[in-house]
Amino acid sequence: MSHRESNHEVRPLLGQVADSVSQAIAHAYPELAGADPLVRRSEHADFQSNAALALAKRARTKPAELAQALTSAMAGERVERVEVSGPGFLNITVPDQLIWGQVAARLASPRLGVGTPTAAQRIVIDYSAPNIAKEMHVGHLRTTIIGDSLARVLGFLGAEVIRQNHLGDWGTQFGMLIQYLDEHPDATWHHDELAAGTSAVSALDELYRAARAAFDADPDFAERSRNRVVALQAGDPDTVARWKEIVAESEKAFRDIYDRLGVLLTPEDSVGESFYNPMLADVIDELTKAGIAVESEGALVIFSDEVTGPEGKPALLMVRKRDGGYGYDTTDLATIRYRIHDLKADRLLYVTDSRQALHFQLIFEAARRAGWLTDDIDAAHVPYGTVLGPDGRPFKTRSGGTVRLMDLLDDAVNRAREVVREKNPDLPREELDRIAEQAGIGAVKYADLSTSRIKDYVFDVDRMVSFTGNTGVYLQYAHTRIRSILRKAGDPDVTVDPSIALHPAERALALELDDFGPTLAAVAETLEPHKLCGYLYDLARDFTTFYEACPVLNAEEPVRSNRLALCRLTAHTLRQGLGLLGISAPERM
Ligand code: ARG
Repeated sequence: MSHRESNHEVRPLLGQVADSVSQAIAHAYPELAGADPLVRRSEHADFQSNAALALAKRARTKPAELAQALTSAMAGERVERVEVSGPGFLNITVPDQLIWGQVAARLASPRLGVGTPTAAQRIVIDYSAPNIAKEMHVGHLRTTIIGDSLARVLGFLGAEVIRQNHLGDWGTQFGMLIQYLDEHPDATWHHDELAAGTSAVSALDELYRAARAAFDADPDFAERSRNRVVALQAGDPDTVARWKEIVAESEKAFRDIYDRLGVLLTPEDSVGESFYNPMLADVIDELTKAGIAVESEGALVIFSDEVTGPEGKPALLMVRKRDGGYGYDTTDLATIRYRIHDLKADRLLYVTDSRQALHFQLIFEAARRAGWLTDDIDAAHVPYGTVLGPDGRPFKTRSGGTVRLMDLLDDAVNRAREVVREKNPDLPREELDRIAEQAGIGAVKYADLSTSRIKDYVFDVDRMVSFTGNTGVYLQYAHTRIRSILRKAGDPDVTVDPSIALHPAERALALELDDFGPTLAAVAETLEPHKLCGYLYDLARDFTTFYEACPVLNAEEPVRSNRLALCRLTAHTLRQGLGLLGISAPERM
């Protein structure tokens, strides 16, 4: 089998075997045609099907008999052997030749033969969304990393992904801040005026606190601040210019973090809350006319039909406050309408922490009642748990303050530099710095992505940067080891000989490699990047077992070429998989 470059999907064996079982079902029991063949990977053979157990009742027979009937109907080129085990499991072994064929075909494809199951979808992903004039803190870490990984996976699988950074760039707090800045012309907060290492946004953050203190202590200042809000909303040019300046300075600081994290977000993806201001009146009008938004105690609200809050009262969205102001709820109503009507999304994802679950449930309910969110559109809140400190409580600095994201990344990179230097003391300084950056950032991302999304996890830098265990550094290192084998072999283009009998360790590795596409499809469906992490970890371990059992460089041809092909496909799959988590795969470390 030669090296043809092809962009075609290489159908996973899992799917091919499922087809065989489906055909056998339809053949042996036409009345059961279309039933789920229930095939999965197995310890006892290459694959196992539970169909006989699940369908026996409908077939009015015993599972063992049904299994026997399916076995007889299953002969074919995709199947080497079928054995009935236990009460009626089908243990299915595929021919070696077929497995080598998959390896060769995946190696020849720039996308490793992975199909494009989400190709027809336009998916809007709302993630990161920090608040202007405030420091990005540990709370923004997860949304940024998880959202970015989902954007990558869904995009790789063919979807048109529209990233939306719903910046908190509007609200009454800006009146206070602008007024304070005007009254304190000496305050330094611009990026270029500040000492290196301090960010404009931390300066703003401090001014914001000072403004808040003044607001609470001084009723005259509070009054002037409220007038500023009115001026801002009315579009007073000086006030608006100041506001724009604050937004721009904050965005510069966010950009520093995005660059460092290596996330896909660009300035074009920033569509903050203020963007929706011109749409609010119309949205409210529509909701009021439809009788969905109703007056209540001087405010305009939407009572939920589905959710009751405390004291048995229906939960509600605040559409217009008693003072006439619009808030977070109003903006999200305009946002969902815009994303459906203007962006024409098929799928809407909102990546925020789990405490916002009720908010989005109410927004989706209102959008359904308004007729915007129809059955053909899938809207989902993608919630995640809290980042905890070593004491098991929400992560705080020693003095109890919020942890700046930049400090956290510095810390991880410094620790990564130590462990990499220990492992490889001869690395030149510059390369060490570069690798430490990739390892440290990768470690933070991997630790975040590898736990089930909804769970809280403990931010433990020492564990994250470890070369052993389920860590990003371990996977990066596994990749460098394979790259080094390939370099020693001269990185040749290899041809796979499909007639070679597979060693059990080669077989396990090849079958795992074949499972990359189905794993990504599962991530796309469940929105759980940890499934990809777990897959890559298993893959790296299967490679280790293979490499211990099967010599590569010293093997005779054609076995040597076949094994080099496995090495190369493993390296590509690890690099591609890490890439989809937003983690880089250095050549050496
Ligand atoms: N800025 C908000 C926060 O920091 C998150 C916004 C999430 N997106 C949305 N459409 N509401 O909590």
